[in-house]
Amino acid sequence: MGRAFVYVILGGGVAAGYAALEFTRRGVSHGELCIISEESVVPYERPALSKGFLLPEGIEVVLGTWVKSADVKRKTLLTATGETISYKFLIIATGARALKLEEFGLNGSDAGNVCYLRDLADATRLVDVMQSCIGGNAVVIGGGYIGMECAASLVINKLNVTMVFPEAHTMARLFTPKIASYYEDYYIAKGVKFIKGTVMSSFDMDSDGKVTAVNLKDGSWLPADMVVVGIGIRPNTALFEGQLTMEKGGIKVNGQMQASDSSVYAVGDVAAFPVKLFGETRRLEHVDSARKSARHAVAAIMDLEKTNEFDYLPFFYSRVFTLSWQFYGDNAGEVVHFGDFSGNTFGAYWVNRGNLVGSFLEGGSKEQYEAISKVTRLRPAIEDLGELEKLGLGYALAE
Ligand code: FDA
Ligand code: NAD
Repeated sequence: MGRAFVYVILGGGVAAGYAALEFTRRGVSHGELCIISEESVVPYERPALSKGFLLPEGIEVVLGTWVKSADVKRKTLLTATGETISYKFLIIATGARALKLEEFGLNGSDAGNVCYLRDLADATRLVDVMQSCIGGNAVVIGGGYIGMECAASLVINKLNVTMVFPEAHTMARLFTPKIASYYEDYYIAKGVKFIKGTVMSSFDMDSDGKVTAVNLKDGSWLPADMVVVGIGIRPNTALFEGQLTMEKGGIKVNGQMQASDSSVYAVGDVAAFPVKLFGETRRLEHVDSARKSARHAVAAIMDLEKTNEFDYLPFFYSRVFTLSWQFYGDNAGEVVHFGDFSGNTFGAYWVNRGNLVGSFLEGGSKEQYEAISKVTRLRPAIEDLGELEKLGLGYALAE
């Protein structure tokens, strides 16, 4: 059993959706393009986990189908249902999966009230569990994006929330201690509790297989009606290990998003691509890079000679409660904070080897966010950090 296509997109997430949109925008004939996804729904905007589906018509969509092996030399994919799908060009958009507690030597992921959040099925389940626990205790394991965003939603939905994570402050991959402390104070005022510098060691379970308490390494324990786990992700590269070059835990691609085999492209969370601005290969786990890398790969495939190198300015953002921040560039080097940390608008610049390389802003206007984005792309030389601190946001607005 087999089918052949010119273009195959493997994965049905954000990057797959944007790649499909770009293919149709540029014009593909009926039957040329196929998307294969494990999920039972067509690609959707993951951040909102809304049902804003992305897919145009005229594309062969193979849903609810796990691809179990890939043969890069033969240009074929084998599905769990036994079908062989061959391609001329493959776009790998397999994204990432949530890391499980078991991968840290712990147990309990299967418990009825332990939730992860990666896809629509997870989101539906989390909402169901949450609704059965209103007024009860939620323990959030992990102090990153999922931890912060879920803790906010849980407390808004009237659960008592405690966050547990090993670092000294939240969002340790990005926030400085000063930035983190602003958000933590805000969360505390909303009723969220923080337990830092420790990790869970085990769950107590009832006879129905539900968690009743979370035991911590420091010897303490927390009563729990539900648990949300957000302890990072692992890119879905397994199908291509040993067949394509890997870097930074992902599939290494060039500035055209092309992998070490010239018929294969990788986009989104799974791709490690050269960030020209930093002169370095990076793998980013954010939606803007998924959308733009997908569009770039399709442009490169359909316009083989002419496409420029992908020249991407990393962009991350989050919105919780009434707060909203944006970050552009790289959080490397020395940090200069600015603005009013007791008010609504503040931020930070990162200066690495004499150049401004990163900017963070909370509570900005559209114009202010545009200004920090623009200035970060310019990488201006900074001679006097004190002067930059004094000028604050005014520095970006004046550039
Ligand atoms: P994604 O994970 O979206 O898709 C991968 C797809 O491949 C899935 O459909 C999967 O089923 C499929 N797949 C994998 N292996 C397969 C196989 N072998 N066979 C068949 N199918 C397979 N970012 C941001 O910048 N701002 C934000 O606010 C948020 N918010 C946010 C909320 C939540 C809840 C999550 C989980 C994530 C975010 N993100 C975010 C991150 C952002 O959503 C993420 O970077 C993109 O979804 C990455 O898109 P991809 O298409 O690369 O992977
Ligand atoms: P993350 O990398 O942001 O955070 C992981 C957190 O896990 C760390 O901050 C740490 O506190 C914690 N941790 C690590 N080991 C632990 C352990 N043994 N016990 C307890 N905690 C431990 O990952 P995430 O929050 O799981 O998010 C998953 C993915 O979703 C990421 O790729 C993220 O970029 C993406 N996402 C992005 C956004 C956004 O951009 N606004 C929103 C949601 C999710």
